[in-house]
Amino acid sequence: MRKGSLLLLAVAAAFVATTMSMSVDVAGQRGPQVQLPEGPGKELVSTACTKCHALNFITNSFGFSRTEWTDLIGSMVALPPADRDAITGYLAQHFPEKADAPKAKIVPGPVQVTFREWQAPTLGQRPHDPLWTRDGKLWWTGQYASRLGNVDTKTGQTREYVLDTPNSGPHGIVEDAQGNVWYTGINVQEVGKVDPKTGVVTEYKLNNPDARGPHTPMFDKKGILFFTIQNGYVGRLNTANGDMKIVKSPSEPSYPYGIRVDSNNLLWYVDYRQPKLASVNADTMEIKEYTLPRADARPRRIGITADNMIWYADFPQGYIGRLDPKTGQFKEWVSPGGLQSRPYGMDTVGDILWYSESGVKPNTLVRFDPKTEAFQTWAIPSRGHVVRFIDATPDGNIVIAESGINRVAIAEVKNPTGTR
Ligand code: HEC
Repeated sequence: MRKGSLLLLAVAAAFVATTMSMSVDVAGQRGPQVQLPEGPGKELVSTACTKCHALNFITNSFGFSRTEWTDLIGSMVALPPADRDAITGYLAQHFPEKADAPKAKIVPGPVQVTFREWQAPTLGQRPHDPLWTRDGKLWWTGQYASRLGNVDTKTGQTREYVLDTPNSGPHGIVEDAQGNVWYTGINVQEVGKVDPKTGVVTEYKLNNPDARGPHTPMFDKKGILFFTIQNGYVGRLNTANGDMKIVKSPSEPSYPYGIRVDSNNLLWYVDYRQPKLASVNADTMEIKEYTLPRADARPRRIGITADNMIWYADFPQGYIGRLDPKTGQFKEWVSPGGLQSRPYGMDTVGDILWYSESGVKPNTLVRFDPKTEAFQTWAIPSRGHVVRFIDATPDGNIVIAESGINRVAIAEVKNPTGTR
């Protein structure tokens, strides 16, 4: 053990605790302890299922069939078959699919999609964000296991990269022009780089002690790294010389969340504590806010189409919306799964919007064509279990990470533009 690593662990644990109490995203361990119904298997569940999160994850879930429970817990823990059977028997009896679980609405359409999924090798690591890299690999951040992983989508071969700092909480992930992979260490106030060939990790501490929870990273058109910060800041890192600048959001409270760049090199982020989205000037870091039409909107992820329209997923309210920055006009649509559909991870291919609904069972992948205002939806094969980010590949395919079931997937799109 390295000198001082005990102290480091203690500090990391304190950081984890702080981040968790303020974060909607990383809730769980400190969630309310719930009473489980009596029955054979209860004791096993109380011990095997409380190592990573509280039992309210079980009581709050959609409920599942025995086959689904087996599939789901197999992605989190490796149990002796007898224990596994006792647990899944108990769960299927006491937590079957809830009658009121919002159902996915499958909308047919002209585009064909084929899904391929892979399990992340380390169980229960909570793949948070996916990334498609130019060499044809599908990466993810393993938030609960302080590692990044990738799968070669041709061979199915996987590799994991353990980060240097324990409990880093890797959250967002992006690739630079040299093929290095960058991540935000949400628990440890860091942005880091992994060289995929050597596995060498380089870490950059945030240079403002008030800014906590580096969230989503995004390179601008000039190769400068921008990132949102959970407690109301936006950061910028010049990866060539390590120069960092952090600015405060004009809103209070504020939670800059998804961030992307438009074709004029203007950064845009959505604020998950406010009905707002905002632009950030890449040079001056001046922030300009736009207020969404509905006061209860809480936009979580963002997409920018080729025509520089700004799209957002209003997670709690079930809407997607669009801002035309030229006119300041908004337009909104209810997502096909309805007001409880929880639209979340989002990206664009040309002028087409792709996103996922995380509030319906199974989770869906949604395609929206702004020209025709037509939706098309697909059920995600392992039900999704919350797709927090979407990355579109240069070929117009879509990669996703399925946090709750420890998988990543590619949706291969036959005719992305929808023309036959
Ligand atoms: C190694 C860590 C780990 C262990 C042990 C673990 N889980 Fe999980 N579990 C996770 C992670 C990570 C998630 C995803 C959390 C998230 O996305 O917020 C999760 C999510 C869940 C969910 C929510 C899934 C959904 O989509 O509704 C349920 C239910 C659940 N776990 C049940 C269990 C049960 C039952 C056990 C015991 C057999 C268990 N977990 C043990 C890591 C673990």
